[in-house]
Amino acid sequence: MPLLGFGTWQIKGDDAVRATSVALEAGYRHLDTATVYGNEGQVGRALAESGVPRDDVFVTTKCPGDRAGRGIDTLRQSLDLLGTDHVDLWLIHWPTEVAVELWAELVEARDDGLAREIGVSNFDLELVDEVSGAVDVTPSVNQIEWSPLLYDADTLAGHRERGVVLEGYSALRGGTLEHPVIVEIAERLGRTPAQVIIRWHLQHEVVVIPKSVNADRIRSNADVSDFELTADDMTALDALG
Ligand SMILES: NC(=O)c1ccc[n+]([C@@H]2O[C@H](COP(=O)([O-])OP(=O)(O)OC[C@H]3O[C@@H](n4cnc5c(N)ncnc54)[C@H](OP(=O)(O)O)[C@@H]3O)[C@@H](O)[C@H]2O)c1
Repeated sequence: MPLLGFGTWQIKGDDAVRATSVALEAGYRHLDTATVYGNEGQVGRALAESGVPRDDVFVTTKCPGDRAGRGIDTLRQSLDLLGTDHVDLWLIHWPTEVAVELWAELVEARDDGLAREIGVSNFDLELVDEVSGAVDVTPSVNQIEWSPLLYDADTLAGHRERGVVLEGYSALRGGTLEHPVIVEIAERLGRTPAQVIIRWHLQHEVVVIPKSVNADRIRSNADVSDFELTADDMTALDALG
């Protein structure tokens, strides 16, 4: 699973085709969408038109949390829209009281080859354990809100102990881009605050999926491989959480 992906929440219609195309051109090989984003068709179109082989791109979509009993149908609709016979990762988008029943359907989809990996989103570790224990399959991934301001070493360690990949979302929201500590590090390194935040995720080996509709931002958010945060910078960023 590439640590850097392209987030597509709130990008609709032609914008979704355009933004996803720019992301693929810029080198992103991991796309994050969901049934409720209403853009799987556009993401799929951009992927098909990009010329990038399907197998080179890690595609995630998500099932609404209340679809127990209709999970596999929901995934088949996603696959039709995305124009693929499998996704690389299928997630339960949010927890509900039917999480265990729905999780069993994700396991079935994985066993049938419709999803290479399966996971959850917005689950706390207690609920991760509950679904894991119920059908004896641990989610591969938990996608949760994550940024330096939300950093919690115990949460990260708890995921690692269980073998669950922590995938962060909304890293650029909640005041992170304007935070003085982040702005100071960015100015010192001649980078943008977004690049510092994305780099912080990569150095923690936490998956990060920045979203933008702006082509320059899409490109610059992926341009993070030629600099490194020092151990002191990492500690200062961790301390914001
Ligand atoms: N599982 C879940 O429940 C859940 C929830 C939320 C998000 N997600 C996923 O995570 C992805 C990322 O989260 P997110 O969409 O909340 O937002 P985000 O990546 O934190 O970005 C927030 C905003 O920052 C702006 N931005 C992006 N790059 C920037 C830059 N270099 N400089 C300044 N501003 C910049 C974007 O605006 P512009 O577009 O105008 O550039 C965007 O609207 C989503 O797209 C979605 O795929 C999942």
